[in-house]
Amino acid sequence: MEEWRKFRAPGRVNIIGEHTDYNDGFVLPFSIDMHVQVKLRRSNSHRFIVYSEYFDEHFESDEIKRTGKWVDYIIGVVWAFEEDGYKVDPMEIHVESNLPMGVGLSSSAALEVSVGYGLSKIMNYGIAKMELVRIARKAEVEFVGVRCGVMDQFTAVFGRKDNAIFLDTMKMEFEYIPLNLGEFEFKLIDSKVKHELSFSEYNRRRRECEEILKILGKRSFRELAIDDLKDLKDEKLRKRGTHVLEENRRVLESVEHLKRGEMIELGRLLYESHYSLRDLYEVSCEEVDFIVDFLRECESVAGARMVGGGFGGGIIVLVKKGRFNEIFGRLRESYRRMFGRNLDYLDLKSAGGVEEVEP
Ligand code: GLA
Repeated sequence: MEEWRKFRAPGRVNIIGEHTDYNDGFVLPFSIDMHVQVKLRRSNSHRFIVYSEYFDEHFESDEIKRTGKWVDYIIGVVWAFEEDGYKVDPMEIHVESNLPMGVGLSSSAALEVSVGYGLSKIMNYGIAKMELVRIARKAEVEFVGVRCGVMDQFTAVFGRKDNAIFLDTMKMEFEYIPLNLGEFEFKLIDSKVKHELSFSEYNRRRRECEEILKILGKRSFRELAIDDLKDLKDEKLRKRGTHVLEENRRVLESVEHLKRGEMIELGRLLYESHYSLRDLYEVSCEEVDFIVDFLRECESVAGARMVGGGFGGGIIVLVKKGRFNEIFGRLRESYRRMFGRNLDYLDLKSAGGVEEVEP
């Protein structure tokens, strides 16, 4: 039997720039110190033998076929490799993860990227980083069927410790911005809710944005200014478009604030982003809004907002060091009273991108 080789890719959190990455916009994520880790070796029986510790599930198959389950993220990567002419030998893959799922930290991209990187190494393809981003995303869009943007896979590949990535998703140009947060730190609150509509609503938002461009006769949101949106008769489309354009502006401003260490100003933009996602893009939910509204009243919190696709999941919080626990304790109590649920939180430490590790 061939020796195992082990690879890991980080999750990511997006500071700001939500629902902009499939609209040729800007994002500002960083990769975090929680990973999906995969062990790979060639198999001499089935085409795929996959085991996940997380789900305690074993899967074997000789076909490249959708299953409707988590294993599609893996099969999808093999499919994408072969679509692009990179043949993949039968493979045994074990998945481990300390990256929570469904919180908006992009465990699916971390899984795709770790598997893709592993396959490239084991098959000796030496696939370039940008190519890996493309293949991982293709697996998610064309095989799994979530028409995601490029932010998650990009961050899992290009992440760098102590830095955020300012990415222009149209030009695919990027800049590392040091995460100098001064007396502040980022935390992530897990609302513990994930509403079922997230997949369908995500794809629906994409269609709405495409419709905006079609009606206005533009190829990209980058050719649009707020004023142009007046020509849209449908109020819902006007709201969606306004979110995208203003969110892009907020990312550009956030980059400047982060460079200058202006945390209060950065925090204000996080709140603005949240309220725009709530009122204009309409992807938040009651539980998450409750949390953000609560934090808004706390002096030590500079800003907070929902992260990821929406409809539940996580809230990123920019808070003064040493103040979070007390605030979280109070919030947890109110949340339990209001929704009868427990809250959780995670520390958000930055980490580097995909890599091979000692087995
Ligand atoms: C999901 C997608 C990303 C991005 C966000 C919203 O995480 O995978 O590409 O669109 O939603 O910003």
